[in-house]
Amino acid sequence: MLRRLHHEQPDSFAFTPENQKWAEAQITKYPEGRQASAIIPLLWRAQEQEGWLTRPAIEHVSEMLGMAYIRGLEVATFYFMFRLQPVGSVAHIQICGTTSCMICGAEDLVAVCKEKIADRPHELSADGKFSWEEVECLGACANAPMAQIGKDYYEDLTADKLRALLDELAAGKVPVPGPQNGRYASEPLSGLTSLKEQESGRTKYNASAQLAVDIGDTVKRIDGTEVPLLTPWLGKGANTDAAPAKGKSVKRDPMMSPEGPDGSQGGRTKGEKPAPRNRGASSDGRSEAPGEAPAAEAKAKPKPGSAAPAKKDKSVKAESGTPAEEVGRKPEMLSAPKDSGADDLKLIKGVGPKLENMLNGMGIFHFDQIAKWGDEEVAWADANLKGFKGRVSRDDWVEQAKKLAVGEETAFSAKARKDGRYDGGS
Ligand code: FES
Repeated sequence: MLRRLHHEQPDSFAFTPENQKWAEAQITKYPEGRQASAIIPLLWRAQEQEGWLTRPAIEHVSEMLGMAYIRGLEVATFYFMFRLQPVGSVAHIQICGTTSCMICGAEDLVAVCKEKIADRPHELSADGKFSWEEVECLGACANAPMAQIGKDYYEDLTADKLRALLDELAAGKVPVPGPQNGRYASEPLSGLTSLKEQESGRTKYNASAQLAVDIGDTVKRIDGTEVPLLTPWLGKGANTDAAPAKGKSVKRDPMMSPEGPDGSQGGRTKGEKPAPRNRGASSDGRSEAPGEAPAAEAKAKPKPGSAAPAKKDKSVKAESGTPAEEVGRKPEMLSAPKDSGADDLKLIKGVGPKLENMLNGMGIFHFDQIAKWGDEEVAWADANLKGFKGRVSRDDWVEQAKKLAVGEETAFSAKARKDGRYDGGS
């Protein structure tokens, strides 16, 4: 399928201030000269903000990363996850049309889209709320036929189920993603035939559907204020002054510059200005609020002026350029394990053999050492675990260690012991 930029484009693109800070913080994850690696998350954030990926957005991101425009265009046009046309203000429906889904009824789903949205893919519905397209296998073949709606999968669909989902979305609700035929995940429809103990203690919905419900942004367009802007790998929040100054340019490799090594400008002649773009297809035309569930929005979006998400409050600010050793406060270390022997730190989710060695090398052997850490110690550890920056707060080691130190189990440690393996991390 040809994936081309839409014929109408807005004049310009800019991240919201929050998204700009988030994007700049993402770039700092990569070593000097490797900033181009941030292109997927930055393009995704631009799409989340606008609903679709415009040419100015691709160019803006490419410039931020010191990449030739053509490199940004190559990425944006390659992946189906990037939408190159305006999409419905409520939802864009991606119907999987590959083998399993086709055998199980994808054509019926496409027929519903034609009936309820528009005759042709990528056309907006008459009210501008919906659009649809057929895509290649989305990797949920065991739950065929399925569709991706917004950020989530709706599986085990029938024509009637899809009709009902569209009606719910049009009414401003966000249906729960996941299997739509009563299955929990991809087990037999009649229920599990083995590994039945897995049913105990599980969440209401399967892992991905539960996460979608918890996060609550399935079809919501975000501007950065709804999600924590924490950059734990830096031991600080992206909202701190430590993020690079807005507009700070990334050092350009001559081979990567928009001018290119031969002076061409990614499809333009050197010196030629970008062609003027038509107005009319900007996000303005689709600025009505998408059909997020009110409850989900209330959960995810802080009220204007209200405190930032709790996780961010816990971060410890560090001045730009502060050496890692000086971030936060160094935790208490031991020269050797206590007589009882070192605890198995791999029972903490996020700690694997490599990290355990690193911790032991620093003088951290016991759960109760980690359990005592406050925000300052967490910030220090987040900044000083080389190669694993941010791991401590990401996986909330302190809360896990508090339980393990008093002989309680966490969900992870119980599973790890049961499986006889410790796959928590590196
Ligand atoms: S064939 Fe549809 S998800 Fe794989």
